[in-house]
Amino acid sequence: MINKNSLYGRSVIAEQDFSAEQLNYMINFAIKLKDQKAKGILPPYLKHKNIAGIFMKPSTRTRSAFEIASADTGANFVYLDAQGSHIGSAESIVDTAKVLGEMYDGIEFRGYKQQDVENLAKYSGVPVWNGLTDENHPTQMLADYMTVKENFGHIKGINLTYLGDGSDNVATSLLVTGAILGVNVHIVSPKAYQPAKRFVTLANKLAKKSGAKLMITDDVAKGVRNSNVIYTDVWLSMGVPESEFKKRIKTMMPYQVNMKIMKATGNADNGKLIFMHCLPSFHDNSTTIAQHIYKKFDFKPYEVTDDVFNNPKYARQFEEAQNRMHSIKAMMIATLNPIKF
Ligand code: CP
Ligand code: NVA
Repeated sequence: MINKNSLYGRSVIAEQDFSAEQLNYMINFAIKLKDQKAKGILPPYLKHKNIAGIFMKPSTRTRSAFEIASADTGANFVYLDAQGSHIGSAESIVDTAKVLGEMYDGIEFRGYKQQDVENLAKYSGVPVWNGLTDENHPTQMLADYMTVKENFGHIKGINLTYLGDGSDNVATSLLVTGAILGVNVHIVSPKAYQPAKRFVTLANKLAKKSGAKLMITDDVAKGVRNSNVIYTDVWLSMGVPESEFKKRIKTMMPYQVNMKIMKATGNADNGKLIFMHCLPSFHDNSTTIAQHIYKKFDFKPYEVTDDVFNNPKYARQFEEAQNRMHSIKAMMIATLNPIKF
């Protein structure tokens, strides 16, 4: 049966290109695929499809999710990065798009500029999936709101509070996607690191339709009250120059997620609160970057403390990471296969 609202042939570049119905369809499909995989059911939905994964920035989860989702569905996945290919150095994105469009059925792209992923979609003629840019991280959103649904049974009406760098790709995507889905998203961050105006305007417009109540504030106590989800991300996103590290860590320290924040929600002890993080995270001194920062600046760049990060009562970041695989699989099938499942 062909679905008239089909996502077949679509690229996934930015959340606002999709309706709540379409996002919910991919999320619900991901939950179904997760259940199927747990039972050992892995139909070859994408047999003989060829997928390219372009990574101009490093990745653990997104790459793994695309590779495993390809293997699980019978597709072939080819990894390309800046060092081992000509992309962006000896060959333009437009030429790359034209070449890859001749060979592949779908292309994942992780990079810097939004224009690059848009050009890739425009000139390749095949579905392109945005695996993170400086501006947004749409495939992360499918896994994140899937995790919310699994934990609370619904998405609409949930109070999700993001603390820290409110100007980054994940914060921007949470705000816009939440506005589409009817989630009451609070972005709690220093004034200098709040979401760009154009995204706030866009989110407010989308919220009018969904009923989401959005808040952008630098007031921690006000922002976290009644939260069901406390979410944070690194203060030092990929591509942020080291010259900015000290200022960022100092400015964002009051927005660190710790037990005091969890308690301030009012939901710490009633089973209505979880912690989420897109990962990777700085929460202890076990990474070389955290050690380097501590040595050089005498600051610990921890956006979340260990007692929250490792607290089984709240921490959902690892199931959230697993959900990347199921939700990316759902998105790939929905955009590459015309059948509604
Ligand atoms: N959350 C996320 O995108 O992780 P990776 O950078 O490991 O892909
Ligand atoms: N904001 C982070 C997200 C990593 C998944 C970054 O861009 O590095």
